[in-house]
Amino acid sequence: MECKQRLKWLTLAMICPIIAGAPSSMSKRDGSCPKENLNITGGTFVLSNGYSHGSLLRYICSNGYYPSVQSRHCQNEHWTSKTKIIKTPECKKITCPNPRVFKNGEVIPYKEKYYVNDTTTYSCHTDYTFRGSAVRVCKPNGKWSGSTPICGRDSDHCPDPGVPPGSSRTGDMFNIDDKVTYNCERPLTLIGSKVRVCQDGGQWSGTEPQCYANFTYDTPEEASEAFSSSLKTNLAVEKEEQKGRKITLDEGGKLDIYIAVDASDSIDEKDFDNAKITIKMLLDKISYYPVSPNYEILMFATDVTPIIKMNNFKMQKPSLLDIFKEMDDFTYEKKGDKTGTNIAQVYSTIEESMSIEELNNATAFSETQHIIILFSDGHANMGGKPKPKVDSIKRLVIKNDPKREKKLDLYVFGVGEDVNQEDVNGLVSQRDQEKYFFKLQDLTKVQQMFDDMIGTQRACGSCFHI
Ligand SMILES: *[C@@H]1O[C@H](CO)[C@@H](O)[C@H](O)[C@H]1NC(C)=O
Ligand SMILES: *[C@@H]1O[C@H](CO)[C@@H](O)[C@H](O)[C@H]1NC(C)=O
Ligand SMILES: *[C@@H]1O[C@H](CO)[C@@H](O)[C@H](O)[C@H]1NC(C)=O
Ligand SMILES: *[C@@H]1O[C@H](CO)[C@@H](O)[C@H](O)[C@H]1NC(C)=O
Repeated sequence: MECKQRLKWLTLAMICPIIAGAPSSMSKRDGSCPKENLNITGGTFVLSNGYSHGSLLRYICSNGYYPSVQSRHCQNEHWTSKTKIIKTPECKKITCPNPRVFKNGEVIPYKEKYYVNDTTTYSCHTDYTFRGSAVRVCKPNGKWSGSTPICGRDSDHCPDPGVPPGSSRTGDMFNIDDKVTYNCERPLTLIGSKVRVCQDGGQWSGTEPQCYANFTYDTPEEASEAFSSSLKTNLAVEKEEQKGRKITLDEGGKLDIYIAVDASDSIDEKDFDNAKITIKMLLDKISYYPVSPNYEILMFATDVTPIIKMNNFKMQKPSLLDIFKEMDDFTYEKKGDKTGTNIAQVYSTIEESMSIEELNNATAFSETQHIIILFSDGHANMGGKPKPKVDSIKRLVIKNDPKREKKLDLYVFGVGEDVNQEDVNGLVSQRDQEKYFFKLQDLTKVQQMFDDMIGTQRACGSCFHI
C-alpha cells in the first residue's frame, strides 16, 4: 500500500521494490499466498493448486467432526474465507438437533447434547398413540435417522404434526384451517414449511420442517430417495385412467423442464466439467420416466448463458445426444465473466422464456407442467435478491389459483458450504409432503445421488446411458 502511494515519484518507484524487500515483491508478481498459519486443530487441509493465486484450501476433519472454517481462497497473496477467522480453525464435534422437544412422551437418554452415533429411544405417555421412529441414531451428516417420532391423540381432523428435533411449535389445534408455526433453535435454519395448515383432506399443507445446522448435509441416499419420490409424484402426471392403465403425458407433451447450473468463479475447470456431467446424468434419469419433456438448459455466473432455450427446443426437437453434444461444445472459456453468482438473472431468464411460451399458445401453457431445477452454491452475490423473480414466476404459472399450484415445481440443489439455506428455502416449492431443497456437500455427491436413483422398470428403447 505504502509502496503504491510512492509510485507517483518515478525515481522512488524504481527503488521501491528494493525497500519493500525482494520476497514480497516476488510474491506480488504471482499473487501466491503464505504457507504459515493455515493449520486446523484436530484436522488437515488440502489445496487445489498449492499456494498459488486462485488455489482453494479445504479443511478436512475426521468422521463425526466438522471444521469451524470450511475453506479458504488464495487471492492476491491473502487467504480469504467466507466466515471471519478470529481464532485458529478447529474440528468440532457434529451434533444432532435437540430431540428433547418431543411432546407427550419420553426421550431416553435425556441430555444436553447429542453427538454422532448417539442413540435415542422414544415412548408415549398413556393415552397417546405413537407414530414415527421409536429409535433414532445421530448420523454423521448432523441428522437423526428415521422419521420424527410423534405421540398424538389423533382425535382431531389432521394427525398431530409433531415437533421435529431442534424446533418449537406454536399451535395445538389440528382441525380444518388450524395453523401450526415452527421455529428452529438458534443457530439452526428452518428447511421446509414454517407454517402448515390442516386441510380438508386431513393432511397438513407443505413439507415437514427440518432444522439444519451449517454443517448439516443430505446424504446422496437421502437426497435420491426424496428426489425420486418427488419426481415420481410430479412426472407421472396421469391424464386419465383407461382400462386400468395409466395414460401419461403425450409424446412431445406438456412438460417443460428448466435446468440451470452455476458455473461461477468458485468452481474451476474440473468442477465446470463436473457440472456438465451432472446435467447429463439428470437428463438421463428423467429419460427413464414415461414422459418426453421439453428442456431449457442454462449455465450461469455473472451472466446467464443458454445451452438450449425452450422455444428452440420445441422447434428443433433435439435428441438427448444432440443436447449432450451442444453441452460438450460449451467450454469453460465460453462461459464469460465467471466472478458473480447471478441467481436472480437465471430466474428472470426462465420467466422470459415462460412468457414467450405463454404468448405462443396460452392454452398449451396453462396445461403444461413447469419444473425448474437449479444447481448452485446458493450464494447469490449479484443481480439482487432472487426471491421476487421466483414470486413472479409463481404468478405467471399459478395465476393466484390454488388449483394451479401443482403446475409448478421449484427445486434447488444447494452444493457446498456456501449455501445460504434460509434464502434458498424461500425459492423452492413447499407442498405434498415432498422435499424440494437438497443440500449436498459437492457435485460428486450430487452425481452419486443420481447414480443411486433407480430408473423405472419400463422397457427403455430411447433411454441413453452415459
Ligand atoms: C502445521 O502442521 C504441519 C503438518 O502437520 C506441521 O509440520 C507444522 O508444524 C504445523 N504448524 C503449526 C504452526 O502448528
Ligand atoms: C460411529 O459408528 C460407526 C460404526 O460403528 C463407526 O465406524 C464410526 O467411526 C462412529 N463414528 C463416531 C464419530 O464415533
Ligand atoms: C395450442 O395448444 C392447444 C392445446 O395443446 C392445441 O389444441 C392448439 O391447437 C394450439 N394452438 C395453436 C395455435 O397451436
Ligand atoms: C452459517 O452460514 C451462513 C451463510 O453462509 C452464515 O451467515 C452464518 O454466520 C453461519 N452460521 C454459523 C453459526 O456459523
